[in-house]
Amino acid sequence: MPFDALNETSALAYTDEVRAKTDHLYALVEAKIPRIEWEAIAPVIARINDLKRQKNAIILAHNYMTPEIFACVGDFRGDSLALAREAARTEADLIVQAGVHFMAETSKILAPGKTVLIPSMEAGCSLASSITGADVRLLKERYPGVPVVTYVNTTAEVKAETDICCTSSNAVQVCEHAAREAGTDTVICIPDQFLARNVAAMTDLKIVTWAGACEVHERFTAEDIREIKEGHPGVQILAHPECPPEVLAEADFAGSTGAMNAYVRDKQPRNVVLITECSMSDNVALENPGVDFVRPCNLCPHMKRITLEGILNSLENGVHEVTVDPVIAARAREAVERMIALPDPAVPARFDGRTGRDVISVETR
Ligand code: 13P
Ligand code: SF4
Repeated sequence: MPFDALNETSALAYTDEVRAKTDHLYALVEAKIPRIEWEAIAPVIARINDLKRQKNAIILAHNYMTPEIFACVGDFRGDSLALAREAARTEADLIVQAGVHFMAETSKILAPGKTVLIPSMEAGCSLASSITGADVRLLKERYPGVPVVTYVNTTAEVKAETDICCTSSNAVQVCEHAAREAGTDTVICIPDQFLARNVAAMTDLKIVTWAGACEVHERFTAEDIREIKEGHPGVQILAHPECPPEVLAEADFAGSTGAMNAYVRDKQPRNVVLITECSMSDNVALENPGVDFVRPCNLCPHMKRITLEGILNSLENGVHEVTVDPVIAARAREAVERMIALPDPAVPARFDGRTGRDVISVETR
C-alpha cells in the first residue's frame, strides 16, 4: 500500500456502513467493475467522499479519469474548459485535481486563494513539456504584433507569455477573436501543431504553430480509421482535434472530450468509436447503455497516474500542493480569464476541415 491510510485496513474494510454509503455509486459503474473488485475499492471511495465533506473539498475529474474516479468521487466532470470554469467559480476551500498538472495549475491560477492538490506530481503532458516561456518570447520576436493563442495544455510560465488561452472546445472561436482584437489576419497558435492544423482548416486565418504534439493522439492514423470502418460497417467515428488532420478527415465528428460526450448523449448512435484516450469510452459507455462502443484507443500514461489511492492520500495528507509564482500567475490569469470571458461556443466546435487550409509555419527553437 502506498501510504499509511491504506494500511489501516480496519478503517477501510467493506462494512455495512460502507455498503450503505456506496451502493448508489456502484449502480453507476457496475457494468464496468466486478462486485469483488468493488468491495476492495468502495471503502476508499467512502473515505474520500467523507473527507471531501469534512474539508469542504471538491474533486475536478477530467473525462480521461477511470470510471471509479470519474463517476464515484468526481464532483465536477468534463473537458479542460468545463473544469477551468468550475475552478473559477467554486466556493470550496480545497480543490483536488483529478487530471494532469497543467489542469491543476490552471485551477490555482483561477482560484489563487484556494489550496489546489494533485495526487501525483508526475502527471505531466507531452504538450506542456514541449514548449517553454523562452520559446514563446522567441516566437514573439519572430512575429512581432501577431497575437499568441496558447492551448491550456501548457505550463503557467507559458500562459504568462500569452495573449489568450484556448482549449479544444473553443480553439477556432479564440483564434478568430484574437485576430479581430489585434486587427491582423495571422495568429500564433501553440504548442499543438495538430490542433493548429485543424483550426487552420476551419478559418481563413494564417496560423503559425509549434512542433508539439499529444503523445496519445498523434499515434492514430487515417489507416487505423479506415480499418475500423471496414471492420464495423456503419460505425460513427468521433475524433479529438489533437489527432492529425488526416484522421479527422476520416471521422464523422471531431471535437473536445466534452463535445464527443454531448454528441453521443444527443445522437445516441448505434455503434460508435471515440478516437481518443481509453477511459473516455468507458465513462461515456456507462452513461449511454444503449450505444455500442468499438474500443481501439490509446492510454495517456500521465492521466493514469491519478488513482483512487492517490486521491485519498491527497485528502488525508494535503499533498501534493500545486503553487504558482504570484507574478507569473497574475499574467497567466489574464490569458485564461480572457478565454473564460468568451461565451461558451453555442454548438461545440466541430472540426470539419472546411477550408482545406494548413498552417503557414511549424516553428521550433
Ligand atoms: P479536452 O479539453 O478535450 O478535455 O482535452 C484535454 C486533453 O488533455 C486531451 O488530450
Ligand atoms: Fe497531454 Fe495528450 Fe495526455 Fe491530454 S492525452 S494530458 S494532451 S499527453
